[in-house]
Amino acid sequence: MELIDTHCHLGFEQLANDVEAIVERSIEAGVTGWITVGTDIQQNKKAIELADKFENMYAAVGIHPHDAKDVNSKTLTNLRELAQSRKVVAIGETGLDFHYNFSEQSVQRRVFAAQLKIATELNLPVIIHSREAFDDTIDILERHGGGVKKVVFHCFGGSASQAKLILDKGFYVSFTGVVTFKNAQTARQAAEIVPLDKLMLETDCPYMSPEPMRKQKINEPALMIHTARYLADLKKMDFAHFCRNINLTSKTFFSLPEK
Ligand code: NI
Repeated sequence: MELIDTHCHLGFEQLANDVEAIVERSIEAGVTGWITVGTDIQQNKKAIELADKFENMYAAVGIHPHDAKDVNSKTLTNLRELAQSRKVVAIGETGLDFHYNFSEQSVQRRVFAAQLKIATELNLPVIIHSREAFDDTIDILERHGGGVKKVVFHCFGGSASQAKLILDKGFYVSFTGVVTFKNAQTARQAAEIVPLDKLMLETDCPYMSPEPMRKQKINEPALMIHTARYLADLKKMDFAHFCRNINLTSKTFFSLPEK
């Protein structure tokens, strides 16, 4: 099996000191590619450093809405420079989080729009974090994201009707292990309607280990195999067929080399 964990945070402190072993376990499980995602300038640098070190590992660079409050014009210039690094394949994660509101909403909107501009200029896809801000996220994408070629809603936990709206706009949807949780009926209904050419999987590790490994406190890419099996079953699809197709979707989305 060959799968790509399209959203992991291997630079976070829970994982960063053990990446070699984590990568080894991941390959053994059949998860053989990784997009490690930055959330602030320090994590973006870390993501690039890791991607440079490992084959089949790529980086996304962005400012998380939680960290939007710390952004000034220098941060954005810096982000734009980092985004031109050899193994950077996307801008993200960026977006809006009106659940925690760690940054003021107006600031989140401004910093999100600025990152859409960078993605447009550099012709990179965008990884969106959207929590309790669906309509505002769509609104900003419409007003500032017209030049962005590809967009994915990461860690999707919305409804099937929201997923449909995303698909109608030509965007992609990515699911974490949360879809395996007993109480995730809404996310499962959404996953059922997303076709394989718009569907990607991720761990978002170190958070949220999928069932039946939910008790494992620190999630890691190897565990994504459980999410893949779960969704193939949910969609009543042959596992190999499911994996082949979402692997192709991930490679297409991030313009990864064919091998
Ligand atoms: Ni994340």
